[in-house]
Amino acid sequence: MEKNYKNIKIIVKGSYGCASATAADIIGGFVTAQPSGVLGLATGSTPEGAYTKLIEAHRTGKLDFSRITSFNLDEYHPIENTNSQSYVYYMRDKLFNHINIDPANTHLPNGEAPDPHAECAVYEAKIAAAGGIGLQVLGIGLNGHIGFNEPATAFPRATNYVELEASTINANARFFDNADDVPKHALTMGIGTIFSAKQILLVVTGAAKADIVNEAIFGDITPQVPASILQLHPNVTLVMDESAAAKVLENLK
Ligand code: F6R
Repeated sequence: MEKNYKNIKIIVKGSYGCASATAADIIGGFVTAQPSGVLGLATGSTPEGAYTKLIEAHRTGKLDFSRITSFNLDEYHPIENTNSQSYVYYMRDKLFNHINIDPANTHLPNGEAPDPHAECAVYEAKIAAAGGIGLQVLGIGLNGHIGFNEPATAFPRATNYVELEASTINANARFFDNADDVPKHALTMGIGTIFSAKQILLVVTGAAKADIVNEAIFGDITPQVPASILQLHPNVTLVMDESAAAKVLENLK
């Protein structure tokens, strides 16, 4: 199912696998159209399927990442790069080590930086120097966060140092041996950084996200639901599986 709602192209697929294939097609389309473009990438469970499909497309000679630059949304702080729960480890493990992207062209906020505030300024400047993000891949948190921009009283503009909400720590505890090991802070692109991307791909899967994605698309635009800002972006594609789309489909009727 495909439907436009305001500026948002909504695509609903029958399963996680099909939604992942669609997301990979959109990312692959960008790489083909802009071989030296700038990709904004996300971690988490949601994009894993799309990354697997991109690796397959690269292996079968369909995608060349050699001139692509990437910037990830976020990283825990503090965390060592070698920690298997760091986002830099995730990106190497799930994507970068399996495609021909130049490691020197891949960027994440540095979880080892001694001064997290200074690191945020450095990261924001690197994105600007690269000409900004062409296509930004996003997931959504159960509380409506994008990147690690948690519900707040204002939309953070630039890359910032944040304290994670208890709900985010709990949601991410599944990846750690125990919840106490989840870092309490993170470095994240700001809402302004994300919003400046020319194109946005939001991928949402699983029944647990049905309420929050519905609120983000049809609710008030408020920093209490950070993803709601996407209602104002001129070029958003929202890819969902049927279970995540349940409430949105009701509202589109
Ligand atoms: C990840 C990120 C987060 C996740 C979100 C959903 O880099 O910035 O905003 O996209 O927490 O995570 P999953 O996909 O694990 O449900």
